[in-house]
Amino acid sequence: MLDHFGFLAPYYERFIQPPDPERWPALLNLPAAGSLLDAGGGTGRVSAQLRPFVDRLVISDESAKMLAQAQAKNVCCPVVSAVETLPFPDASFDRVMVVDALHHFADQREALADLVRVLKPGGRLVVEEPDLKRFQVKLIAVVEKVALMRSHFYYPAQIEAMLKAMGLSTKVEGDGRFTAWVIADKTYL
Ligand SMILES: C[S@@+](CC[C@H](N)C(=O)[O-])C[C@H]1O[C@@H](n2cnc3c(N)ncnc32)[C@H](O)[C@@H]1O
Repeated sequence: MLDHFGFLAPYYERFIQPPDPERWPALLNLPAAGSLLDAGGGTGRVSAQLRPFVDRLVISDESAKMLAQAQAKNVCCPVVSAVETLPFPDASFDRVMVVDALHHFADQREALADLVRVLKPGGRLVVEEPDLKRFQVKLIAVVEKVALMRSHFYYPAQIEAMLKAMGLSTKVEGDGRFTAWVIADKTYL
């Protein structure tokens, strides 16, 4: 497989917009005590801004080159790992986030299962994805196929259904344009 993100890493944040600084604290219900995992977190574009709101930030990614950019920000413990096989014990994190990365993972269902595994009871997982209901997102999906990326996009309702089947309480929010967020709470003990 081509290492698209390794190649893009030094330039990545020149092309991708920074996130709305108020959106993620609200989605993750921050500040909160404990640890935040940003899985497929890349350069830490989003989670670096959240560092003041948690006790500990871990950014995991399978691309060491993307993580090197995150490490340069000095905000976190970077961990090189595929999201499907995270090297953390069960119930390690109070919050888990995945931003614009789920469709890049090798196996979305396995990835979600491992993210749920490392989430503490009472914790929250938020997945941000381009909303496949939008025509522009369907086009992006085609372009990524042509570029030989292994992307596999799911509708927000499908992501929500997978998480619900894993026992989480879920809801979906959208910005009415391009992006959807699946918010999942591990309410069971
Ligand atoms: C579009 S980037 C998003 C990075 C970051 N979340 C952001 O929003 O800026 C997708 C990231 O997913 C990572 N990735 C892809 N497949 C992965 C996998 N199976 N396990 C862990 N990370 C993966 C890539 O290396 C890349 O850094």
